[in-house]
Amino acid sequence: MPQNLSTASLQALPKAEIHIHLEGCFELDDFVRLATEAGEPLPRPKERLLEFEGLSEFLEFLDWICGLVRTPDQLARAAYAFAQRVSSSGARYADVIVNPTHWSPWRSNLRGFVEGLDAGFREAEQDGLASAGLCISLLRTQTASEAAELVDHLIAERHPRVVALSVDGNEARAGRTGTKFADAFTRAGRAGLRRTVHAGESSGPEGVWDAIDLLGADRIDHGVRAIEDDRLVAALVERGIPLDVCPSSNLTLGLYASLDEHPIDRLRRAGVRVSVNTDDPALLGLRLEDEYQRCVEHFAWDADTVRSVAETSIRASFAPEELQRTLLTDLAAW
Ligand code: ADE
Ligand code: ZN
Repeated sequence: MPQNLSTASLQALPKAEIHIHLEGCFELDDFVRLATEAGEPLPRPKERLLEFEGLSEFLEFLDWICGLVRTPDQLARAAYAFAQRVSSSGARYADVIVNPTHWSPWRSNLRGFVEGLDAGFREAEQDGLASAGLCISLLRTQTASEAAELVDHLIAERHPRVVALSVDGNEARAGRTGTKFADAFTRAGRAGLRRTVHAGESSGPEGVWDAIDLLGADRIDHGVRAIEDDRLVAALVERGIPLDVCPSSNLTLGLYASLDEHPIDRLRRAGVRVSVNTDDPALLGLRLEDEYQRCVEHFAWDADTVRSVAETSIRASFAPEELQRTLLTDLAAW
């Protein structure tokens, strides 16, 4: 590994994190505190709480933890802790995915949900921590009318904290859903919301095709299975659509056995715009600077490669233009 790419220098690298779920940012201590505050038992012993067998079990766990967050103050605390986390990894902006279906106490009060989170993000910004834009997410298994209802709400409210419509969840379970969600994504795009789509993780290349052709995705979350279709790789390069890649998440949730098999570097060398992200860092035990370091070590990335991946994270983010310009200036000096 080149001398100058220490973890400290990767931590200091000016960058954005653009694929990270608030649901995946609760620490073990948070579970215990929230369960105590809610008067609920842990679903299994503390030592085994973070053992998951694949994506389905993982997503069910998110329902449990988010279901414990019941007051505006608890929401604000989660948002503030999120900003502390990304700042401590040297990210200066985050697009944070939040899926209301996991947060059962807030399902019928989306306005209160966004306001509670916004209060925590605002306080964090005032304290000099990273700023955040909310990507409000549909679950793949929701219906077209639930999607329409969510988009109606987002358009009616147009809360300045909300930057994008997203869709996540288990595509293997839901099957192809591009047509089901096309109308909701089209309307969101027309209303000025950006669009980010989980695809090419629990779906193959067909999920990524649907995301770009039917959902108008500005970015793809994961997207790594695009590597299985040369024509798709060419389309991603030609259209400049970035992939928000999460290498370790893909290993832990069973997509690839090791980084040897992981396609991030093959995609990058083919000309696809890729960024490095953590997905669900607390639940998967990850830090952003370590994800960069793993790529540096495993794929022999030099400083120019790291800089260009960080540049993609900034340019592909939904951060305001002025903040993007500041980060790019700081990146050039890194
Ligand atoms: N929600 C949280 N993490 C996810 C992942 N890796 N895939 C799909 N949905 C998610
Ligand atoms: Zn994700």
